[in-house]
Amino acid sequence: MENPTSPSHTRPILIIGAGVFGLSTALELSSRGYRDITVLDRYAPPVPDGSKPNTQIQSILSWRRKHERLEDTIQRLLSPHRLRHAIRNLSHPYIAKALEINHAQGKAFDEFADGNGLKRLYPDLRGNYGNLHAYHNTEGGWADAEGSIRYLSYQCTQAGVSFITEKRGTVLSLRREGSQIVGVTVSNGEFIPASMVILCTGAWSNLLLDLSHAASASGQPIGFIQLTPDEARSIQRIPVMINLSSGIFVFPPHPGTNILKVARHSYGFATSMRRYEDGKTVSSPKRDSNNADRSFLPEEADKGLRDGLQQLLPEFANHPWLNRRLCWYTDTPEGDFVIDYHPVLEGLFVATGGAGHAFKFLPILGRYVADRFEGRLSSEIKHKWRLRLPEGEGKVKIGDGSRAGPPLRVLTMEEQSKL
Ligand SMILES: *[C@@H]1O[C@H](CO)[C@@H](O)[C@H](O)[C@H]1NC(C)=O
Ligand SMILES: *[C@@H]1O[C@H](CO)[C@@H](O)[C@H](O)[C@H]1NC(C)=O
Repeated sequence: MENPTSPSHTRPILIIGAGVFGLSTALELSSRGYRDITVLDRYAPPVPDGSKPNTQIQSILSWRRKHERLEDTIQRLLSPHRLRHAIRNLSHPYIAKALEINHAQGKAFDEFADGNGLKRLYPDLRGNYGNLHAYHNTEGGWADAEGSIRYLSYQCTQAGVSFITEKRGTVLSLRREGSQIVGVTVSNGEFIPASMVILCTGAWSNLLLDLSHAASASGQPIGFIQLTPDEARSIQRIPVMINLSSGIFVFPPHPGTNILKVARHSYGFATSMRRYEDGKTVSSPKRDSNNADRSFLPEEADKGLRDGLQQLLPEFANHPWLNRRLCWYTDTPEGDFVIDYHPVLEGLFVATGGAGHAFKFLPILGRYVADRFEGRLSSEIKHKWRLRLPEGEGKVKIGDGSRAGPPLRVLTMEEQSKL
């Protein structure tokens, strides 16, 4: 439903979810003069089971000036490491699109018909990349997700945004009166009223609202390996690498902790969870406990990560895991975000659908959400990010063309019980 006028600046807004969508939205709305904003989450940010964590990272942030711009800070969080895309198939549509966009901006990727050519740029690489065609983007890099989210939540607090966490921050259901959402019920039984509820619940969204057709949860495998300082030093200067045929990607070891991270950007795993409201089965991570504790991966996912390491960083392929887990994406039909008013329920706005690539937009995401909130987005982007009705359009989440590896699989009950 299109709100004809801008939402009220003084009435209470509840933002559910303290991830990158929730926090960037809270900060931007606050800067636009919205006075009564509360963010609810099960945990204080950075939440331990958000979609892209770097575990056990000491904060690399320092605040010399209290009110420096977020962009500057994020800029400093970006590492100088480069991004390398390695693929087999030259007509890969995702790469073709990336090349086209870069070209339009007057930039180019370095290109290697023989992937081993990369070793000239990165002598620390010791794998055999000879069967791959490689692209090297000198402007890519990685950012510290945990540190960035911590800084963003600090900025929110400074701006006067309130936070509710733990039991009172755990939302069980949306409260409806007719077609109006009037607030939420939290897990201690309390009702928290609001004139506007903004759902930024990522992979957990379907527990609160049926969005399965538009955004659903997929668990992507990720593994962490503790390197010794010497081992870490030996691959300190490798690029971020992704094999676009298998979806496996690796990062240089984290400078603070020497932890090596390997993951798969794929179609992932689904769960079947019962919804509190109506008992309907949806795919979602657990709500009532941390999804990062159990160190469980389905067997073939573990093997996928091991094989990937063998190919990309063979010297560490048999090192024991420090930790492994599924990292939860919110997948959408074409990999586009879902940022929209609910088409039927009033007082409800949805900002979700990260599809594994929202974090990198942290410095600007809130601006776009707030623009949609205030009805200022161009009709083209508005349409791209629309919340579809359950009938009709694409139930299959094909993503943005960047995924590879095995198709989505629903976990068995036994596997699910180990998560
Ligand atoms: C390369 O990718 C294109 C487009 O996805 C596909 O049609 C073609 O079959 C692929 N070729 C090989 C050799 O995998
Ligand atoms: C990339 O993935 C493909 C498909 O799994 C695999 O055959 C190939 O060996 C991998 N290459 C590297 C260097 O990771």
